[in-house]
Amino acid sequence: MTGSSPAAPRKRLFVKTWGCQMNVYDSARMADVLAPLGYAPAETPEGADMVILNTCHIREKASEKLFSELGRLREAKRAKEAEGGRMVLAVAGCVAQAEGAEITARSPWVDIVLGPQSYHRLPEMVARATRAAGAVIETDFPAEAKFDHLPEAAAPQGPIAFLTIQEGCDKFCSFCVVPYTRGSEYSRPVAAVVAEARRLVAQGAREVALLGQNVNAYHGEGPDGATWGLGRLLRELAGIEGLARLRYTTSHPRDMDDDLIAAHAEIPALMPFLHLPVQSGSDRVLKAMNRGHAAADFLRIVEKLRAARPDLALSSDFIAGHPGETEDDHRDTLRLIERVGFAQAFSFKYSPRPGTPAAGAPFQVPEVEKDRRLHEIQHLLREQQLAFNRSRHGLRIDVLFTGPGRHPGQVAGRSPWLQPVHAEAPLSLVGQVVPCEVVATHPNSLAARLIGGERAGDQPEQEKAAA
Ligand code: 5AD
Ligand code: SF4
Repeated sequence: MTGSSPAAPRKRLFVKTWGCQMNVYDSARMADVLAPLGYAPAETPEGADMVILNTCHIREKASEKLFSELGRLREAKRAKEAEGGRMVLAVAGCVAQAEGAEITARSPWVDIVLGPQSYHRLPEMVARATRAAGAVIETDFPAEAKFDHLPEAAAPQGPIAFLTIQEGCDKFCSFCVVPYTRGSEYSRPVAAVVAEARRLVAQGAREVALLGQNVNAYHGEGPDGATWGLGRLLRELAGIEGLARLRYTTSHPRDMDDDLIAAHAEIPALMPFLHLPVQSGSDRVLKAMNRGHAAADFLRIVEKLRAARPDLALSSDFIAGHPGETEDDHRDTLRLIERVGFAQAFSFKYSPRPGTPAAGAPFQVPEVEKDRRLHEIQHLLREQQLAFNRSRHGLRIDVLFTGPGRHPGQVAGRSPWLQPVHAEAPLSLVGQVVPCEVVATHPNSLAARLIGGERAGDQPEQEKAAA
């Protein structure tokens, strides 16, 4: 109950409990889920960073008691603010459940109202409530326009450069710490992104990879004052002279809108490879993960993307053994992998992150079971990766050479699908996109040879040359 993660700043939590033993137990649970965020118990509400009133409907005049308590707390909250601090005020328990919005209507200084079914979501609600306010919040969840303070000239990064356009996440997947540690979504303005991309290209970048925890949730302020989505930003960047390749990572299926999908059809520089984490193929698990989409939604997006760009290859993330995952759910994940066919993917064994809802969820999957499921997922993904790499054999592809290869006389580069490629070639080709033919395929890379004279771009990337 008192444990807190070493990194978290110490904060004081006061919980007032009315009613039965059940409520006393619930209060302890709420303190437990908040402990990893640095909240330790306080004896009084005065000066506390967070106050929870855990109410009970059984006693007479329960709501009248609550409102008079809230009146007193308003003063404590004001006093805390006068010192430059902030008190998050939450009403929990049966009265919260019964009165709901009535509570915030009568006492607008209440930050959170939550029923007994949502205690596991308390860390998320606290994060949202603290972010919703002004200055003090920023010390908890820095969401400030930190990019504006970066030095003007980014250091040269070579032929492949990375450009952060978005930070943070508002999605609160059950298993993930990012929304707590990185704060809410923030997108850099279009003009700043374009200026930096131009600078990177001037310094020698031929490929720019746009980065963000939720990169396709990008909603930056455009030069026209309108909010631009990622599709529009990509079209703008594609116009930069000398920029041969564009990529973006990491995306969420929920933000894969039609405009962004259309960009894949319209922009030749947008490479035919997309990392789109799905995490699970089971609707039950996706719901428990708070992903906000079903397996069928993901399949529909994949279908649209492939219609827009037939040579698009997909990557994803999978979690084996999320709390509550059954053998059937696991089979659904394997089925989804089989249906989609991934060029590569990352898979992880579920591992509890303190302070996240899944960490405190019942029905944790035993380690041996998680190990077995992960093994099955990885086996299938490895087969698909091998098959994908083999299917490149004999293809004419553009390779962006990035530096010397492992052996003398070799140059290393990247295929359109992000596979490492090596070829016998002069180092003078580093920084160039060069037409090549794939002459050998390996589990994690391709071997290629230069095609003199012709441009690989004359042929569609997916067209297979005679073997
Ligand atoms: N346990 C296992 N995998 C996780 N990921 C994030 N949090 C967890 C966790 N608690 C994985 C997700 C995400 C990737 C970056 O890391 O699959 O997409
Ligand atoms: Fe956000 Fe991705 Fe973490 Fe989900 S997994 S909370 S979308 S960063």
